[in-house]
Order: sequence, then C-alpha cells, then structure tokens
Amino acid sequence: MRPFDGRRVLLVVSGGIAAYKSAILTRRLIEAGAGVEVILTASAERFIGRVTFEGITGRPVHASLWDRPMAHLDLGLEADVVVVAPATANLISRLAVGAADDLATTAVLASRAPVIICPAMNTRMWEHPITQANVARLIDVGYGIAGPADGPLAEGESGPGRLLEPEEILPRIGRALETATGLRGRKVVATAGPTRTALDPVRFISNRSSGRMGFALAEAAWRRGGEVTLISGPSRVPRPAGPDVVEVETAGEMLAALETALTDADILLMAAAVGDFEPARAADSKIKKTSGAGKGFELALRAGPDLLLETRAFRERKGIFTLGFALETEDLLTRGREKLERKGMHLVAVNSAVEPGAGFESETNRITLIDRSGRVEELPLAKKTELADELLDRIEASIPAAAGR
Ligand code: CTP
Repeated sequence: MRPFDGRRVLLVVSGGIAAYKSAILTRRLIEAGAGVEVILTASAERFIGRVTFEGITGRPVHASLWDRPMAHLDLGLEADVVVVAPATANLISRLAVGAADDLATTAVLASRAPVIICPAMNTRMWEHPITQANVARLIDVGYGIAGPADGPLAEGESGPGRLLEPEEILPRIGRALETATGLRGRKVVATAGPTRTALDPVRFISNRSSGRMGFALAEAAWRRGGEVTLISGPSRVPRPAGPDVVEVETAGEMLAALETALTDADILLMAAAVGDFEPARAADSKIKKTSGAGKGFELALRAGPDLLLETRAFRERKGIFTLGFALETEDLLTRGREKLERKGMHLVAVNSAVEPGAGFESETNRITLIDRSGRVEELPLAKKTELADELLDRIEASIPAAAGR
C-alpha cells in the first residue's frame, strides 16, 4: 500500500515563480497514491499552465467560481487535506480576513479539512508586520504554516521567502492525514547514526551506521503527532523534514544533547550506533607515520560513555518509555534480553549484524522484538520506514494514554 492511497488532496496554487514546484509536488502526491484536485488562482495561471496539472492529475483543473456550480463547496468538502503552495502574501492576506472572492479563497473557507499553507514571497514582504500578523491569524485558526525556507530568491536577493521543496512539504501533508495520532503532544527523543571520535586532528574512528533506522523512527513519530527531537551523528542520508534536529559528532556530545532533550521527554527511541571506544589519548597534532618506526602502530583505546546506562536512573525515575536496539552476531535473543535488562529498556529490537539485507548501510532490516515480559515477536524483513511504523504501533499500545492530551 502506498502512503497516501485513497486520500484526497486539494492543492491551491497562487501566483509566484515557485508555482513550478507545485507541479512536482502534485506528481509526488500522485505517486504516493493521493487523488489531487488543483485550483489555480488567476495570477497562478500566468506562471504555470492548466495543462501541466491536468497532464499530471488526469483531471480538469479548477480556476473559476463559475466553471461548475457548487465546485467551491464540493472541492473543500471532499478534501482530506487542503494545501496552499505557493501561498503568496496576497493570498495569505485574503485568507486571513476570510475573503471569498474567487474559487481559491472560497474553497478554503468552505472546507473543514486541515489546511497547510506554504508561503513563498520576497523576504521584505514576508517580514512585513502585516504579513506576519496575517500569518499569526492563520495559525490562530489552526492552519499549519510550512516554511518559508531561507535561501536565494528569484530576484537575486537572499533570505526567508523560498517555497519549501516538495520533499519537505510531503511529510507535512502526511502528518495532517495521519490517522494514528497516539503520539500527539508526546515528547519524543530519537537518536540516530554513528558517533565519531578523533584520533588526531585529521583521523577518526567511527562505524558504518547510516542513520536510516533512527531517521525513519523520528519521522514516523513526528508524522503521528509527536514533538520530536532527533539527535544525529554524522551521516550523508538527508535528515527528515519535521523533527527538530541536533547534530553531534562524539559520544560525549550525543550524551550531553540526550540529557538535555530527555528533561521533559515521554519516549526515547535509541537507534544511534554509539561508538564504544575512544582513544586513551587523542593526539593534538597529526600522528606521523614514522612514529611507529616502520613496525606498525599500536592504538590504546578505552571505553567511552554508554548513553543508555548513563541515563538509566533518570529515565526510570521519569518513566520514559525506552526502545533500544541490540546489534548482535550470535545468540541474538539471549544477548538482546540481557541488554534490555541491563540498559533499562522497555522494548529491544534485536538485529543481526551479519544477515544480508539487515543492519547497517541497508535500507531494509529484520528485527526481533523482546519486551519486558519476555514476549518475543519476529518481524519479517522490511524497509526501515515500514519497521518504524511497526515499532511505533507497539510503543503506542504499551504506553498509558495520557489524560487531556
Ligand atoms: N548504546 C548506548 N551507548 C553506547 C553503545 C550503545 O547507549 N556507548 C545503545 C544503542 O543505541 C542501542 C543499545 O545501546 O540502543 C545497544 O547497542 P549495541 O551496540 O547493540 O550494544 P553495546 O552496548 O555496544 O554492546 P556490545 O558492543 O557489547 O554488543
């Protein structure tokens, strides 16, 4: 099943150079299974043609209140989510006063679906107090504001005003459409990726973790409504768009970031491959090849901090639900159980470091889950993104429902 199968998106495009990105967004939505209806404002039609969207959606584009009777009511009513991208300063101002003077504004006003506004405009227009007041009004009535991003603008200027990329807008639509919202209002901390420890100013010890499992967990928890802090070690894989990201390098930095983030956390998803060893002495200057005098070179290592052990007492005191991982080459279940007990986890996801298609550098993984009662559940080989949802389903089922959230 594709993530947006059967979901109906109403995409409102207003007139800005960034309108071309909306065509790509539409394509991505269709690929994800969504049905997309497009409304173009009069000025949008000057930037991008109807045929582009009609070609992508296979449906007529809507542009006028007078094309089809009641279209202004039906379009909003039938939508599961309304996305305005790009949203110009002008359209934002009209939405903020509840204008209903064209199909775009009328359809948004007549909809009960969640609305996501993706602003795109010149920086000075974005920063103008009137625009900011309009945006505040939209936030006030519950509209989601996605962006704008900071960067080069079409006029040769630079600053906040860029439309988010389709890859950044998509997860926000996913969050609005999500039906598993058991993490809404929960504070979730996820760790991901490897850590690095320096041997000297140019060399380091690290491991092959890609960060994918932790990123998938952070993104899925955010999509389910969680307030997510992702603490990530160095990785080339793009960070998920929704969570707040804290970038760290060493195990010590990860521990410090974790201690801060855990202060008010409800759930910890500990997927980072924290390095276990660090040099007994890190050299201040580059270690010379001649220092081994041609006989090789011995490196003295000592154990670094174990983040789960260091935070165990605090997590237990605060009742922070903890998912940990165990990467093993043999005796998977026995060692997984032992780690669960010793490191104070509620659930451990055991995976094999030697099985093809599982573990580090792979997009897929095979996981066996063990919980505190000793229950063992084997999950089939699956994409890390799918496993993230499987894991969160189980976590949602085992955390007590918080009153008033
Ligand atoms: N972990 C941690 N701090 C470390 C190492 C690991 O908090 N210094 C966490 C990992 O994020 C994971 C769990 O502990 O959730 C188990 O990690 P794993 O690498 O399997 O275990 P290790 O403690 O490193 O034990 P060993 O190397 O002996 O298997």
